[in-house]
Amino acid sequence: MDNNREHWGSKIGFILAAAGSAIGLGNIWRFPYLVGENGGAAFIILYLLCVVLVGLPLVIAEILIGRTAQKNPVGSFRELSNHNPFWVGVGVLGVLTGLMILSYYNVVAGWSLGYVVESARGSFQHIGDPEKAGILFDQLSASWTWSLFFSACFMMFTIGIIYFGVIQGIEKASKIMLPILFLLIILLVIRGVTLEGARAGICYLTKPDFSAINGKTALLAFGQVFFSLSLGMGALLTYGSYMTKNEKIVSSAVSVVVLNTSVSLLAGFMIFPPLLALGMKPAQGPSLIFNILPVMFNSIPGGYFFRIIFFLLLSMAALTSTISLLEVITAFVVDEFRLSRKKASVILGGIVFLLGVPSALSAGRLENFTILKLTFFQLVDFISANIFLPLGGIFIALFVGWFWGMKKAIPNLLEGSVALPGFIVTIWSILIRFVAPVLILLIFLNSLGII
Ligand code: TRP
Repeated sequence: MDNNREHWGSKIGFILAAAGSAIGLGNIWRFPYLVGENGGAAFIILYLLCVVLVGLPLVIAEILIGRTAQKNPVGSFRELSNHNPFWVGVGVLGVLTGLMILSYYNVVAGWSLGYVVESARGSFQHIGDPEKAGILFDQLSASWTWSLFFSACFMMFTIGIIYFGVIQGIEKASKIMLPILFLLIILLVIRGVTLEGARAGICYLTKPDFSAINGKTALLAFGQVFFSLSLGMGALLTYGSYMTKNEKIVSSAVSVVVLNTSVSLLAGFMIFPPLLALGMKPAQGPSLIFNILPVMFNSIPGGYFFRIIFFLLLSMAALTSTISLLEVITAFVVDEFRLSRKKASVILGGIVFLLGVPSALSAGRLENFTILKLTFFQLVDFISANIFLPLGGIFIALFVGWFWGMKKAIPNLLEGSVALPGFIVTIWSILIRFVAPVLILLIFLNSLGII
């Protein structure tokens, strides 16, 4: 093992950091609006099915590649494939995808930070309906000074953590923020489900109506699994590369997936009971939390504080995710070009911020600049999340299942957990070799309109 490589300071270090990466805007912003637009409980069941059949096996595979090779995504694929240029290319695709996702994710993270400040200033105190909140959201996000200021602040926080490295930066930040995040979300769930009329929301989330399920919902559920678990671009691989060989991969992966899934479900229970109790509609689209929540809190006792807490929660969740994205790119540059971590994190963070400027301006000045009918923001989001992530997922499954192969994968998986029951290994190999690649391919072709 490379003795110079930093490793997690404790066994729980990896789990917290990886769960921090997974838990983010995807759970609190994206999941609830997808549930709201696609039929509530039925969508949730479909999502859970995708998590178990494709998400978990791929999480295990990604961590395994990283822990075995002890390198960044490009270096790991290079080493395990014996310098095969195709697989090196897969690693490069991962790093590029990370760059793209971080560039626009940081913009949304900046908005949530901006909303903490606006909430504290009382900007939403007198807004009575979601439409007015929507107008305010449009105004704020269209103001380039507002949105660039907060996204620049957010990137500085992200750089500040990556600068200090694996133990002092990522692990410490996750150890502090993740428990607070859980606490805040539970507080908000309790607040939500104890409101008068909360029952409608609870029913909405627990009584499935399967007629709402179709090809499109399956596709959305699938995409959400990739995005939410930080799968398909080497983030888990990179975090796995800081694991030592005496840690258990499967049980760590299960913990990460369970933590991530519970936050998504909790986010549902935080948002829908108050939403329906106040007679608002669940199908609001991507602006759901930015339009509805500021208003919702106005009709709740203690709303001023709960609103600040909510956007603080959102910002912290986003921060443990942005650090995982910047870490992938930083690890690549540090390993491959021998630049120091400190220099690399500052330079790369700056570059990614600049790449995000057109995305930030997509809500305002560049609103009418579209490619294929999508704004710059939507285009980067579509290509990276809906094309590159599933593509990366297929390659990871094919690499572990067929190219590198089970003969090498299984002994490496068992290292650190000799007591892993044989049937689990068998189920995992079937899922990773057959089920995951075939399902991803079908969904992928479907999304491109080919089948
Ligand atoms: N999973 C995070 C979320 O749900 C976002 C994220 C972080 C991500 N790292 C990633 C998404 C890597 C895809 C790939 O908000």
